[in-house]
Amino acid sequence: MTTPQQPIASGFGADSTAAEVLRGIDLSGKLAVVTGGYSGLGLETTRALAAAGAHVVVPARRPDTAREALAGIDGVELDELDLADLDSVEKFAERFLASGRDIDFVINSAAVMACPETRVGPGWEAQFATNHLGHYALVNRLWPAIERGRGRVVAVSSGGHHNSPIRWDDLQFDQGHYDKWEAYGQAKTANVLFAVQLDALARDHGVRAFALHPGGILTPLQRHLPKQEMVDRGWIDEDGNPLNPAGFKSPEQGAATQVFAATSPQLDGKGGVYLEDCDIASPFVPGGPRVGVRDYAIDPEQAARLWDLSARLTGVNAFA
Ligand SMILES: NC(=O)c1ccc[n+]([C@@H]2O[C@H](COP(=O)([O-])OP(=O)(O)OC[C@H]3O[C@@H](n4cnc5c(N)ncnc54)[C@H](OP(=O)(O)O)[C@@H]3O)[C@@H](O)[C@H]2O)c1
Repeated sequence: MTTPQQPIASGFGADSTAAEVLRGIDLSGKLAVVTGGYSGLGLETTRALAAAGAHVVVPARRPDTAREALAGIDGVELDELDLADLDSVEKFAERFLASGRDIDFVINSAAVMACPETRVGPGWEAQFATNHLGHYALVNRLWPAIERGRGRVVAVSSGGHHNSPIRWDDLQFDQGHYDKWEAYGQAKTANVLFAVQLDALARDHGVRAFALHPGGILTPLQRHLPKQEMVDRGWIDEDGNPLNPAGFKSPEQGAATQVFAATSPQLDGKGGVYLEDCDIASPFVPGGPRVGVRDYAIDPEQAARLWDLSARLTGVNAFA
């Protein structure tokens, strides 16, 4: 049974940090895979999980950069992974599975945001391919280890999912104008639908899935945005300093919701829901502020349809 999309009064909120949600939780003997675990929210997630005793596998597109970022954090293992390249995903999964270990948590934190139109693989739009299809293939390939771990899979989505539902008629922006924010929105909607369908398929195996919006945090994610666009959006001033009214969280606060989704005992027996600020989010209210989750992102029919489409595109489906 899918959990209702309704807050549970977790006692945590927008200000909570990853370390705070882990207080009193011992992750010794647990293994986490954190994509993007060497930058921004992923790095803070790695740091917090490792501090709580977990062994954290960080598959990196840029291993040298990752090695530098993770220096001094005990309990971390680096590997290589490019989510935009399905061969790379397959090879990473094969190496991991060959180690015979179980996975307790997968946290899909890696993403690209609002990049210029880019094509990867067989001509796929890069944000959909990297943020969704790469993670879809990764989780399906790692499924034997995830199933043995009977743990949780966390899809880091975004409030950006409000920008677009799945564009069923033109998924890859092949027909006409490319819009970088619509493409990000579609990819982040795909992250939520992925968690909904994975939870439906995996819960009988003891594995649950969650999606979430981490909040707004200045990280290298904004690398593709021109400075003027960030000034115009009120995120930074002309000198590049963050503007507080934009309500940015710190990276430690930004990592909290994904760590909460992966580890909180308050979510035991729950799944298939979208979280915000370390709690289950409410549904979006049409005409209201851009918070909560859109109906189209948690629609079970679209979740199943996206799963089938992703299986066809990537050639992998652990539940076929
Ligand atoms: N920051 C925010 O305000 C915000 C708001 C809403 C949602 N989110 C979501 O939060 C998550 C984390 O974002 P962040 O702010 O931590 O961003 P970040 O600092 O840019 O981290 C993203 C990570 O993804 C990795 N990555 C990108 N493309 C990859 C690929 N092809 N293969 C493997 N790894 C790849 C990056 O690796 P490289 O460094 O090697 O490129 C980086 O480690 C994302 O899913 C994002 O959509 C963030």
